[in-house]
Amino acid sequence: GAKERREKLLTINKQAARAFHRWLYAPEGAQGLAYLQKRGLSKGTLTRFGLGFAPNRWDALIQELSKEGYDKRDLLDAGLAVSNKDGRIYDRFRNRVMFPIIDTGGNVIGFGGRVMDDSTPKYLNSPDTPVYNKSRNVFALNIAKKSKAGQVILTEGYMDTISLHQAGFDSAVASLGTSLTPDHAQLLSRYFPQAILAYDGDGPGVAAAQRAIPLLEKAGLKVRVLRMRGAKDPDEFIKSYGREAFQRLLDQSENQVDYRLDQIKKKYNLEDDAQKVAFLQEAAQMLSTLPSAVEREIYGGHAAQTAGVSPETMALEVKKAFQQRL
Ligand code: UTP
Ligand code: MN
Ligand code: MN
Ligand code: MN
Ligand code: MN
Repeated sequence: GAKERREKLLTINKQAARAFHRWLYAPEGAQGLAYLQKRGLSKGTLTRFGLGFAPNRWDALIQELSKEGYDKRDLLDAGLAVSNKDGRIYDRFRNRVMFPIIDTGGNVIGFGGRVMDDSTPKYLNSPDTPVYNKSRNVFALNIAKKSKAGQVILTEGYMDTISLHQAGFDSAVASLGTSLTPDHAQLLSRYFPQAILAYDGDGPGVAAAQRAIPLLEKAGLKVRVLRMRGAKDPDEFIKSYGREAFQRLLDQSENQVDYRLDQIKKKYNLEDDAQKVAFLQEAAQMLSTLPSAVEREIYGGHAAQTAGVSPETMALEVKKAFQQRL
């Protein structure tokens, strides 16, 4: 049945993860180990995350798992092998460092594999399979769910999350190769009351944060946004400035409403009266979507202060926008 099938695929994945991890310390994995060490990962981190290496051969994993009695169909279904036109199969992951993706029940459900140079694709991920749905799982939640921090730190990537854990931020997770989905948000809300978005500081990262905010709020999480400065992403930031500096970024993170007000402000020149009016109107529109009257008042006050008008005037503007919405 379907349940037995899923259990078989999970067993295959677990054995694959073990083989990848073993290869990391074998002679043919030397380059992979050197790569991960060069990226600053300690032995303990490699063990905690079960990182591994996929050899530079066509069928290393296929041979390994055939010995355990698995056939072509099993390996294809697990997403670990791919077939060509003649029906021959070969390993999906070759010559890459391997990141197992583990669900909150401790099952290995998929993998990401990174090249060790600048060839493409940089990361290859497992396809969706009967046990892996990338829209419903996030990386490292199996570890982060045990954190005593009340806030989940959301990153874009494997290395961001792993570096944060190594630096002691044990509530970091990553939504991988996809933007955050409503299912991700729902899943996170089961373990955390609050989320901090720590995406890359580039255009795509900012856009991804903007899209993630309403999904997380809808799932009931309070959202703050960390502003990445002086580095591309959390991994590079920690490498350059250290864990205390990252803690300061966390402490300085903004409530999502202030963050969105800042994003709106960037579009206008507040020295110009007409643009100031336009800023306040757009801000009022955004604030009018907040369900709480208290929040509308508080953040309306922030917008008023930014533009140098009275909070009462801004409150009127927000009220007008709110009533137009009803
Ligand atoms: P980034 O390009 O920001 O990579 O992609 P990164 O995480 O900083 O990786 P390093 O530091 O160069 O090793 C962010 C995430 O997007 C997904 C991966 O999950 C990656 O961690 N991604 C990126 C892919 O799935 N495939 C790709 O080819 C690139
Ligand atoms: Mn990205
Ligand atoms: Mn990026
Ligand atoms: Mn990076
Ligand atoms: Mn990045």
